Amino acid sequence: MTAPSAVPPGFEKLDSTSNFHDLVGPLYEFRDDDSHRIGFVVADKHRNRRGIVHGGMICTLADFAMGHAASLATGTLRKLVTVNLSIDFAGNATVGDWIEAHVDVMRPSMKVGAWAVLIAFVGVAVTGHFQAQVMTEQQPMKMAAAEAIYETGENVGFSLFSLGTLDGSEETFRVQIPGLASFLATDSFSGEVEGINDIQAQLEEQFGPADYSPNIPVAYWSFRFMIGWGALAALVAAASLFAFRGGRNPTARWVGTIGIITIFMPLLANSFGWIFTEMARQPWVVYGLQLTANGVSLATSATEVWISMITLTLLYGALAVVEVALMIKYIKLGPPEVTTADADQAYADRDADKPLTFAY
Ligand code: HEM
Repeated sequence: MTAPSAVPPGFEKLDSTSNFHDLVGPLYEFRDDDSHRIGFVVADKHRNRRGIVHGGMICTLADFAMGHAASLATGTLRKLVTVNLSIDFAGNATVGDWIEAHVDVMRPSMKVGAWAVLIAFVGVAVTGHFQAQVMTEQQPMKMAAAEAIYETGENVGFSLFSLGTLDGSEETFRVQIPGLASFLATDSFSGEVEGINDIQAQLEEQFGPADYSPNIPVAYWSFRFMIGWGALAALVAAASLFAFRGGRNPTARWVGTIGIITIFMPLLANSFGWIFTEMARQPWVVYGLQLTANGVSLATSATEVWISMITLTLLYGALAVVEVALMIKYIKLGPPEVTTADADQAYADRDADKPLTFAY
């Protein structure tokens, strides 16, 4: 059968999947890297008594398109069932008109996710800026360590990369954005930021001779990894919104892979933020009030601390391995097959207490 002239070029007739398909069809399909569409030409059999296309046929088209796209997206020919379909009718069509459905499986969730990441990053950058000012006031050594600033100065740059001498007392090389560290710490691009050496001298004068600086590479890099992973996630989010703009729907495999990798970026940023907060405060438990060394409990021995740390690490490590292995196993298996008899039984039992259908 040749397609009616209303069928746009590029559409191919869909093979029949059921008697119902034969009854309402023919349906036509168009597929490329960016889109997936299913359509039909309104025939006499699709009219309601007012002569326009029956709403039931529009629902049928939506259902076909959704099911077909879901099968393609999951890469399985698994039998899927529709559990919910809600439709608004905005217009009508008559015999000979072409109607088509476009299906976006990833778009809405991708867009919500991307906007959430972008907004969250801007929010965290703004609150982080205020937090940095409080930190500069209350824990100046932490700010100096975050930026590996050894000498007090004005208009201090935010370094993207820095190398220091092995004893950590001097910086030998730095790539920087001018004035940004001053702005972060003082709200002014020309503000003064105290350096590690000056703060060390002040603390020695106040509390006696000791090393009052934290591990500078840990402080410096954890600060950068916190901001960096967050910024990278925001960059991916902005690039995704651009790639999916105006109805585009890139379906290349690497797009999905990057999407999955991005999930871990805020997690890494959070972890490095926490590492920075704790490690760059050393050697203090409470900056200027109590040294970590003075906070050591006399009631608990080092052996007891080691035992509980090792036990907890092994326990949670083992649980994490089991959890990930089970997740991968059940993702690969996919949702359980539902037969018509199961569906009928579920409907008959709809008021009964539901038995557990999935657990691991
Ligand atoms: C331009 C961006 C950012 C700036 C300026 C910034 C600034 C800061 C500062 C100054 C601190 C230390 C506060 C203190 O110890 O007193 C901090 C801690 C932290 N940051 Fe960031 N941050 C930024 C981005 C991020 C991002 C993207 C994340 C996570 C997605 C993040 C998560 C954290 C966490 C979890 C802490 C530890 C909070 C705590 O344990 O008290 N930050 N940040």
